[in-house]
Amino acid sequence: MWALGRSADAFHYIDGFAGAGLYEGRYPGSPLIALTLLSKQRLPWSVSFVEADIKLFQQLAKAVHEHPTKAGIFDKPFIQHGEFTQFVQEILSRGIYSQFKRVATFAFIDPCGASGVRMSDIARLLSQDYGECLLFWNYDGINRWLGGAQAGTHSTAGVVDLFGDEALVREALAICLKMPPDKERLLRDLFIRAVSTKSGARFVLPFRFEAKGSERTSHYLIHCSNHGLAFKIMKDVMDSASSGDEGAFEFLNDADTSYQMGMFRPQFEKARAEILAQLTKETTPVRVFTDDWTRRPHDLISSVAYKRILLELEEAGEIQVLSKDGTEPMPAKRRPKRLGKATLGDDYLLRLTTTR
Ligand SMILES: C[S@@+](CC[C@H](N)C(=O)[O-])C[C@H]1O[C@@H](n2cnc3c(N)ncnc32)[C@H](O)[C@@H]1O
Repeated sequence: MWALGRSADAFHYIDGFAGAGLYEGRYPGSPLIALTLLSKQRLPWSVSFVEADIKLFQQLAKAVHEHPTKAGIFDKPFIQHGEFTQFVQEILSRGIYSQFKRVATFAFIDPCGASGVRMSDIARLLSQDYGECLLFWNYDGINRWLGGAQAGTHSTAGVVDLFGDEALVREALAICLKMPPDKERLLRDLFIRAVSTKSGARFVLPFRFEAKGSERTSHYLIHCSNHGLAFKIMKDVMDSASSGDEGAFEFLNDADTSYQMGMFRPQFEKARAEILAQLTKETTPVRVFTDDWTRRPHDLISSVAYKRILLELEEAGEIQVLSKDGTEPMPAKRRPKRLGKATLGDDYLLRLTTTR
């Protein structure tokens, strides 16, 4: 969302399943974290929060009211009690949209389980010019729900709302019936297909989080947008988050296999080959890889990772770095260093090493 600040003139943060705001009197939830971050940036901003539980809603309203930092806020926070879906239209008609042309709209959809999330709402959010959604996708909850629908103890209506289509839910139920060993992956891929086809998202970026100390999936965060820059930045954010200790996370391949962040996985081999093929055609600026390519909808490699691959190719003697105007070589020893390692600015040119 902050990245889109470069092209947007205002922000709108939407928390559709907002929770209490503050936990145990001191731990901020997502609405308060957003208030703090929004107060620190320079663009005007609005926030919209919805919470279905009356007690939590009251706590949320109090926590938001008492939150000390609201610098730069455009209008009063919109805080409603009820189901998110009831308010989407109203939220997307708020004053900030008539006042500003380019409103970066970021919706966090963080339900307990999966109930209350509708693909049609995601589609409405993404129909905004600068719309992004971050969806907490709880595999266990969805799996249980499908199990209930199969056993006849739950209606399929809610899952149809989630997947946005009855035929896709029939496919999901057929997967559950067969009980394949890779059921989680099949259901996840089916849902990603649902998001791409039913919400109109051009960019769908799933991250898998593992439960701490186990190889089990704890949950997925699925980032959906129609904006190449938002997609690019989200990959970088997740790339940097992957070094944390909070349990492993993965980017996912949109094909069959998922792969962990790491430089020796097939996806990176493919990227190396693609870079070399491009440089066989022509000398190419670094930014083509780190900026243009990272905005391609099916490219799940971050700009940070592209830079790492390019530096590796240089170190292996496969490619050469040239000055911005292409007139002189700029080997690693001539370039600025960060933490003892050569950097690679976006304006440098790259070509294949002629002696290869
Ligand atoms: C996982 S919590 C949200 C936590 C919050 N993102 C945070 O960081 O503090 C999910 C919240 O959504 C609320 N909720 C459930 N269904 C809802 C719906 N259809 N619309 C709005 N809120 C809902 C629940 O009462 C619960 O407080």
